[in-house]
Amino acid sequence: MKEIRILDKTFREFIPEETIQLRIEQLAKQLNKDLAGKDVVFLGILNGAFLFAADLFRRINLEARISFVKLASYEGTTSSGTIKELIGWNEDIRNKTIIVIEDIVDTGNTLERIVDELIIRKAFEIKIATMLYKPEAYKKKIPLDYVGIEIPNDFVVGYGLDYNGYGRNLPSIYTLIPE
Ligand code: IMP
Ligand code: MG
Repeated sequence: MKEIRILDKTFREFIPEETIQLRIEQLAKQLNKDLAGKDVVFLGILNGAFLFAADLFRRINLEARISFVKLASYEGTTSSGTIKELIGWNEDIRNKTIIVIEDIVDTGNTLERIVDELIIRKAFEIKIATMLYKPEAYKKKIPLDYVGIEIPNDFVVGYGLDYNGYGRNLPSIYTLIPE
């Protein structure tokens, strides 16, 4: 089994590149079918989803647009502490079908923040596409419409996902080997 070292941690290959790409092909096929005739904007969530968004979107054969937003954390002045703001909007999403593209859905906190913002901005319809999903960690009720692969509640890197900023360029997904 292939092992790699990132900073102070060791990871083992978990989902090979071919499996990821095959799954994306299946998701794209489904999306092409489901979205036919709709006014669609794909919305990639940076940084993690950049590879998945690229690989998925290049297989979409509809007239569709893509845009990216980023969640920026900053220390708020309120007692609640960290506030997450979605920045980078340059697309009018009003009355559009939005396909949110996420690298991973873990607790669902990030996703909920994004969906709330899309509702405020009056999206017509919101669908979620995520490459990875940790069902054991998920705490929200938002339905996940397109899930690449369900994984256990372990820390993974690669294919856009990072450990302290590193590992995003790995074409396969690796799981942390506990010490
Ligand atoms: P959430 O808990 O669903 O809000 O996930 C928040 C974010 O944490 C995701 O968008 C990822 O960027 C990151 N994340 C969650 N699980 C992992 C993981 O296993 N490896 C790397 N990043 C992760
Ligand atoms: Mg992310």
